[in-house]
Amino acid sequence: MCGIVGFIGREQVCPILLDGLARLEYRGYDSAGVAVYSEEDGTLQVRKAKGRLQVLADMLEGGALLHGTVGIGHTRWATHGAPSDVNSHPQVSRSGRIAVVHNGIIENYAELKSFLIDMGVPFVSETDTEVIAQLVDYFYEGDILEAVTRCLHRIEGAYALGIICADAPDELIAVRKDSPLILGYGEGCNFLASDVTAIIRHTRKVSYMEDGELAILTRDGIRCYNHLMQPVEKEIFTVDWEIDAAEKGGYEHFMFKEIMEQPDALRRTISPRIRDNEVWLEDFALDEDYIRGIDRIFIVACGSSYHVGMVGKYNLERLLRVPVEVSLASEFRYMDPILTPHTLVIVISQSGETLDTMAALREARRLGAKILSIVNVVGSSIARESDVVLYTWAGPEIAVATTKAYSTQMAVLNLLGLYFARVRGTVEEARYHAILEEMQKLPARLEEVLASRDSVQYLASRYFNHDSIFFIGRNLDYALGMEGSLKLKEISYIHSEAYASGELKHGTISLIEEGTLVIALGTYGKLFDKAMSNVVEVKSRGADVLALTSKSHEAAMAKTADAVLTIPDTCDMLLPSLGIAYLQLFAYYVALMRGCDIDKPRNLAKSVTVE
Ligand code: F6R
Repeated sequence: MCGIVGFIGREQVCPILLDGLARLEYRGYDSAGVAVYSEEDGTLQVRKAKGRLQVLADMLEGGALLHGTVGIGHTRWATHGAPSDVNSHPQVSRSGRIAVVHNGIIENYAELKSFLIDMGVPFVSETDTEVIAQLVDYFYEGDILEAVTRCLHRIEGAYALGIICADAPDELIAVRKDSPLILGYGEGCNFLASDVTAIIRHTRKVSYMEDGELAILTRDGIRCYNHLMQPVEKEIFTVDWEIDAAEKGGYEHFMFKEIMEQPDALRRTISPRIRDNEVWLEDFALDEDYIRGIDRIFIVACGSSYHVGMVGKYNLERLLRVPVEVSLASEFRYMDPILTPHTLVIVISQSGETLDTMAALREARRLGAKILSIVNVVGSSIARESDVVLYTWAGPEIAVATTKAYSTQMAVLNLLGLYFARVRGTVEEARYHAILEEMQKLPARLEEVLASRDSVQYLASRYFNHDSIFFIGRNLDYALGMEGSLKLKEISYIHSEAYASGELKHGTISLIEEGTLVIALGTYGKLFDKAMSNVVEVKSRGADVLALTSKSHEAAMAKTADAVLTIPDTCDMLLPSLGIAYLQLFAYYVALMRGCDIDKPRNLAKSVTVE
């Protein structure tokens, strides 16, 4: 979603803004712009362009054409008004003295806009953001802070804002409500940004703004206030990852780099959490009595994180014998869920900022449940609002299509399941240790799978021009198919569906005809024979079957399927952790063959901060 970057310092601001925006490109956008205070004539210079950031960068000759040391920049993902130069941010007030960048949605913008129009204020864009710029201007009587706070009392919705005023050129104002915004602390300069990647080249010292906070950035410091305008002391964190983690490092695409990084990411996630052959969870604030008393678990998430929950349901129910319900966050928040103090809600999110997931978390808290979150971005909103956080430690994930976050989320959920099962006494000692041993071998096994990527590339070249593809599987393989299908859809734009194999005959099998590609997942040994009968069923109706199975079943599968991909044998609950790599690679290579923009698929955003 939209990206914000702001800077106040002594260096030229425009190249810094363009570089920061380039690092936020992965979030998804359709236009970009900057506003810089010009010391030469005391005006705000605004430049905006629809399309790729490069269009803006070329227009500004890499930043050389705008001079100034204070400014704000934005990449816009259109919500109100089509992508266009005029709808791009920054939005400027009618006096030209106030410029605003905004991430989020102003829900009462129509009402405010008609009020301002009645007051004679002319509007030039269709955006909700212009209302903020015009309203601040309407209230402005020489004190920009006063005007901003009066505006904040009237706007409703979600917003992260960066605001500059030509009459207060030594200040940059940042505001946050329900949309992420961080502050960066430099030497003689300070920053604001939607996320750390935008500013890590300049500073590792950051703080996270809380809802309702407003910050005033100057060259020498940052003052922060709560919604009552009382000063707030911010905790400053030091970012502990290196800048190359957020760069391509010789790979053609971030997605491919992140697929290949999975073994290392899993090592980072798993190794520190297994000590003396026992699961060890850091800062784990759920006591054993509470864990023994859990009578129901909800897993709440969106997209791929939800698919992790689907795998988790099978694994946790087997380990714990407690009902686990998996719910899409966008549904959960409105479904009036039945929660008790013994219900644990597990929230899963890579970004920690997904608005639906955040809203579901708040609803669960309101209803009295405890919240445990599995999050990648340290210090993100979901992490901060949870009772317990387990970080995935996957490092920054830049490609829109998640890969290493998905894998590490699954590993954390499995570790959590084992930990709970040990406390509750629902797993035999020998099985517990056998699974732990397999978990430690997982990164090396995944390396084995990734090493055979050429075979996937070959299969992608064979199948890339299919219009519609089915993924079928049972149980864990069904959950795996859901993620395989989503990966393929989002980056290759091929229609695909994941089906529980047993459900095919209740309708969908009518779509199978000569040449339909069916990706049959048959890794789960206990149901392998059932998986085979479904393969035979679709084969006999003319389908081309690409199968995924484990080493022990390879020979049997090869008798019927047209092509087989094989993962090493491991314990049941870890099969999806290996199988997923083939499906990610398949989606990647198919998208490559089709010439798609893999890291920035159309219409998608990395961090979905609107409803
Ligand atoms: C798909 C993908 C999305 C996210 C979803 C939730 O590849 O990345 O489906 O999984 O938007 O995002 P997080 O995990 O950040 O809450």
